[in-house]
Amino acid sequence: MLGGKRILLIIGGGIAAYKCLDLIRRLRERGAAVTPVMTRAAGEFVTPLSVAALAGETVHSDLFDLTAEAEMGHIQLSRVADLVVVAPATADLLARMAGGHADDLASTLLMATDTPVLVAPAMNVRMYEHPATQRNIALLQGDGVRFVGPNAGDMACGEFGPGRMSEPMEIVTAIEQAVGDGPLRSRRILVTSGPTHEPIDPVRYLANRSSGAQGSAIAEALVALGAEVVFVTGPADAARPLGCEVVEVESAQEMLGAVQDALPVDAGVFAAAVADWRVKTASGSKLKKDNGKPPVLEFAENPDILATVSRLEKGRPGLVVGFAAETDDVIANARAKRLRKGCDWILANDVRPETGIMGGAENAVHLVTEDGVEDWPRMGKNEVARRLAVRIAEALAGKD
Ligand code: CTP
Repeated sequence: MLGGKRILLIIGGGIAAYKCLDLIRRLRERGAAVTPVMTRAAGEFVTPLSVAALAGETVHSDLFDLTAEAEMGHIQLSRVADLVVVAPATADLLARMAGGHADDLASTLLMATDTPVLVAPAMNVRMYEHPATQRNIALLQGDGVRFVGPNAGDMACGEFGPGRMSEPMEIVTAIEQAVGDGPLRSRRILVTSGPTHEPIDPVRYLANRSSGAQGSAIAEALVALGAEVVFVTGPADAARPLGCEVVEVESAQEMLGAVQDALPVDAGVFAAAVADWRVKTASGSKLKKDNGKPPVLEFAENPDILATVSRLEKGRPGLVVGFAAETDDVIANARAKRLRKGCDWILANDVRPETGIMGGAENAVHLVTEDGVEDWPRMGKNEVARRLAVRIAEALAGKD
């Protein structure tokens, strides 16, 4: 979805520069043209020859290159792109951007551009957490610069923590969100996903079998159509979706708080399997076997997140989609649930163990709306997600 887009890729001098080779390849596969610029230090990590070969374009690196200047001046170079991407953005490059330096080609282009800028930081964890770097990031965010990553994990320097550059596909997703032409571009959508854990005591909890696979797939499908997605998830097994703002919660009450913080949104998809009850007073210390007497747990009802959002008088999303996990009378229960909770659509599925749906790779859903019921054939959860994302895009377009 990047056909016809031009990305000005500024490669900074960090070990993560090697990932840019794959990034260029993936951008070109998606139809984007890539104009590469390398800082002097970047040349210590990847060669201009490999970058030029993959981009299919000359690498720019010298501010005072008279031949290049005669062909295309650096001011023009900074403006012909749809997006300027800085990857890897080292601590030094971020500092120079924040300070408004213009002492080499990369920094001069960044100062001269009127094009949106996306930055993928990469540096040692201490350097990332240093107050100076955090200050620079805050300044740049205030200037409207977008960020993708960094991720946390093992680092090339042997340390562990935030500072690893985002993977090429994560950067591609962020680029698609910034300049792609998807039908959900500039839409903000909330997705809840996964089970919730309701504590009994510090070591035990109540949970359910939801893997979070359907919620993750829906979030990724929405991102692929250009949406900005806030993904609020309980402790799910499924991998977190790429390109979303991920908010991790444990209990239903925490999930409600995170959902309220994420509003306003254009649409909400409530795929989480929220526990209906919590233990009224979770014990602060581990419950002990009391002479063979089992503990008696008193339950309290959890807030219904879907119903709460559906019934908002102010700030209700334009489209609210719930799920109905049923074991009997699937359609009848789903219709009743739609009306009871006040949402616009319900995706109903049969979660009897023999269907293999809960925790499995496939789903067979019925879309229940005001207009009736559509039975979708059994298909992969990714395909259900894609179909739903397209329907959401159509519905939101119809509301404009
Ligand atoms: N849901 C919610 N908050 C809750 C319970 C459910 O937001 N406390 C949402 C789920 O995310 C889902 C929908 O409500 O979108 C229906 O969930 P489901 O478990 O099928 O329904 P319940 O409300 O639990 O109703 P019942 O147990 O009576 O079937």
